[in-house]
Amino acid sequence: MSPDITILGIESSCDDTAAAIIQNGKLLANVVAGQSIHKEYGGVVPELASRAHQKNIVPVVNSALKKAGISKQQLSAIAFTRGPGLIGSLLVGTSFAKGLSLALAIPLIEVNHMQAHVLAHFISDEAGAKHPSFPFLCLTVSGGHTQIILVKDYLGMKVLGETTDDAAGEAFDKAAKIIGLPYPGGPLIDKLAQTGNPESFKFPHPNLPALNFSFSGLKTSFLYFINEKQKHNPDFILNNTNDLAASFQKTVVDILMAKLKQASGQTGIIQIALAGGVAANTGLRAALKNQALLANWNIYIPAFEYCTDNAAMIAMTGYYKFQKAEFCDQNITALAGYAL
Ligand code: KG4
Ligand code: ZN
Repeated sequence: MSPDITILGIESSCDDTAAAIIQNGKLLANVVAGQSIHKEYGGVVPELASRAHQKNIVPVVNSALKKAGISKQQLSAIAFTRGPGLIGSLLVGTSFAKGLSLALAIPLIEVNHMQAHVLAHFISDEAGAKHPSFPFLCLTVSGGHTQIILVKDYLGMKVLGETTDDAAGEAFDKAAKIIGLPYPGGPLIDKLAQTGNPESFKFPHPNLPALNFSFSGLKTSFLYFINEKQKHNPDFILNNTNDLAASFQKTVVDILMAKLKQASGQTGIIQIALAGGVAANTGLRAALKNQALLANWNIYIPAFEYCTDNAAMIAMTGYYKFQKAEFCDQNITALAGYAL
């Protein structure tokens, strides 16, 4: 019998400190410590994020080991997020992973966070979980990313299109702020939209070539539209909150779906996956399900805890890289702009 492959995954690219253990491809523990401090500031404050990571990383890793019932000596390798992300935040996870790998004399595996979001589709914590087969397209949408990725293999991916400015989640959060909702406002827009009319207001779609996205113009037109309406009715937001949320959400979902359909048409691929925090959006899920019926798409949406930032996806990527002996050495550095 071959020895167990036990991977500790560490994630610290933004405002979640996370650790997970995957043994022979099966998830044993998945611990995430969020950072509520950023709520007070209406967005992630990088300096506060790195300080919180420093405070959280040891307890989070210990908790993952304890939950998995694994001792440090049983670990085969340590996988960590090298980038992309906030440099101060990435440095905490990178330094910790390097130190622990040195102390335990086990291999170190660097992981691209965007690749890991895609591989979240292969996290198995239950028997019979349905995974996409290759090749498939993955729409990764979160507060920091918006990409359409062609996934040829576990470690063979190509970005077909991405945002040229704001990410989709960022657009949701900024629109939410404009109508007076707290950070992060994406889930609140989603909730309000459920009782609003998505056809109430129309906002322009960006006209970008190929499979790229842009969301900053939409945010600006949303702001100008509301400012204009408020000149005549100071209670405009109050009187139309749900319709504004529903109309904004529909615009974002339509923009995402248009490019996804285009990508599917161009590649002939009908295996379509979602990843990232915005994959929780009710409107996006409904649109995807509808398109699956219309165009025979096979769709895949991971459980919410694997859509948002987590270390299970880092450990999973580490597991595939371990089998190909894709290790790195102690000279490795964090990379804020790590392209896929
Ligand atoms: O993946 P994630 O947890 O963190 C990163 O940004 O990497 O994604 C968080 C983003 C936030 O912008 C949040 O507002 C958005 O995902 N989000 C949503 C929903 N749930 C989370 N946006 C729209 N509808 C939702 N239900
Ligand atoms: Zn992420």
